[in-house]
Amino acid sequence: MASLAIVTVSNITTDQYALLALKAQISYDPRNVLTSNWSVSSSICSWVGVTCGSGHQQVIALNLSYMGLVGTIPPHIGNLSSLVSLSIENNSFHGSLPNKLACLYKLQHLSLGFNKFGGEIPTWIGLLTKLQNLSLHGNNFRGTIPSSLSNISSLQTINLSYNQLSGPIPSSIFNIYNMKRMDLADNMLSGPMPSIISYMSSLQYLSLTNNYFSGSLPSEIGNLIMLSDLYLSGNNFEGMLNPTSVDGFI
Ligand SMILES: *[C@@H]1O[C@H](CO)[C@@H](O)[C@H](O)[C@H]1NC(C)=O
Ligand SMILES: *[C@@H]1O[C@H](CO)[C@@H](O)[C@H](O)[C@H]1NC(C)=O
Ligand SMILES: *[C@@H]1O[C@H](CO)[C@@H](O)[C@H](O)[C@H]1NC(C)=O
Ligand SMILES: *[C@@H]1O[C@H](CO)[C@@H](O)[C@H](O)[C@H]1NC(C)=O
Ligand SMILES: *[C@@H]1O[C@H](CO)[C@@H](O)[C@H](O)[C@H]1NC(C)=O
Ligand SMILES: *[C@@H]1O[C@H](CO)[C@@H](O)[C@H](O)[C@H]1NC(C)=O
Ligand SMILES: *[C@@H]1O[C@H](CO)[C@@H](O)[C@H](O)[C@H]1NC(C)=O
Ligand SMILES: *[C@@H]1O[C@H](CO)[C@@H](O)[C@H](O)[C@H]1NC(C)=O
Repeated sequence: MASLAIVTVSNITTDQYALLALKAQISYDPRNVLTSNWSVSSSICSWVGVTCGSGHQQVIALNLSYMGLVGTIPPHIGNLSSLVSLSIENNSFHGSLPNKLACLYKLQHLSLGFNKFGGEIPTWIGLLTKLQNLSLHGNNFRGTIPSSLSNISSLQTINLSYNQLSGPIPSSIFNIYNMKRMDLADNMLSGPMPSIISYMSSLQYLSLTNNYFSGSLPSEIGNLIMLSDLYLSGNNFEGMLNPTSVDGFI
């Protein structure tokens, strides 16, 4: 993992090279967006979906959401060393996520929702320690939630809904006290809701809907005074809901 942290010092030329590598991996572009617009005769800063920083020296955001694209992500994207935001929601990107993405150490927003990515959620995502938003919903991710996510202390929103994740929520995740929205709905997750859920004192939204969570609900959820949305249906929870545990919501 340490070798992944070596950062390529990129410039507008290396950024262009990375974007052209991505374009080359697109096998279907129904509206010819990249095909016609991503032309080497114009600056990459004028390309659709590309935002450059001040001075036009580096790509800081890439948004290719809702374009109907089919393709894979080349490792070259890991060379966009100034990237703060990467959104490719609602396309048909497939395959696995190249581990070179771990080099995007400035990334704050990573949105890969509604694509066809598979395999396990890579452990190296935990190296993206500036992430605030992580959306991986609506893919084919399997296996367990990596405990390395607990290293992203800046994480505010995590959306892993509509995948095939299984096993318990790693307990270290509950140490992310900045977490505001956590959506784990529609997976095959199991285990109890531990009382240390109350460590997530900023939590506003929690959905565990349609999983195999079980056991009784800890009274400590009443300590989550910011919580306004709690969705627990479609699980195997049992027992009584202690009235004092919901006092906090009133
Ligand atoms: C950009 O970086 C590459 C590789 O580090 C280097 O070869 C090239 O000269 C640089 N180009 C500019 C315009 O700085
Ligand atoms: C690409 O699209 C942008 C934004 O729509 C536009 O400003 C630019 O001129 C286009 N470039 C080419 C080469 O079509
Ligand atoms: C990306 O673009 C879509 C529509 O083109 C927009 O709805 C969305 O807010 C953008 N996302 C980001 C992070 O800018
Ligand atoms: C960028 O990344 C690719 C693949 O990870 C690599 O082969 C390439 O040499 C890198 N560097 C530059 C400056 O493009
Ligand atoms: C995004 O994809 C999902 C799943 O395919 C679909 O239900 C949703 O309508 C799409 N959203 C948009 C705005 O296209
Ligand atoms: C994270 O998402 C929220 C809401 O979707 C948005 O307001 C915020 O700007 C995003 N953060 C970043 C760093 O993009
Ligand atoms: C979190 O980061 C530290 C320091 O880089 C590392 O030693 C530890 O293994 C990481 N934790 C997880 C769960 O990956
Ligand atoms: C997670 O994504 C799903 C599907 O787009 C959406 O319905 C849900 O509101 C999202 N959850 C959060 C917490 O934003």
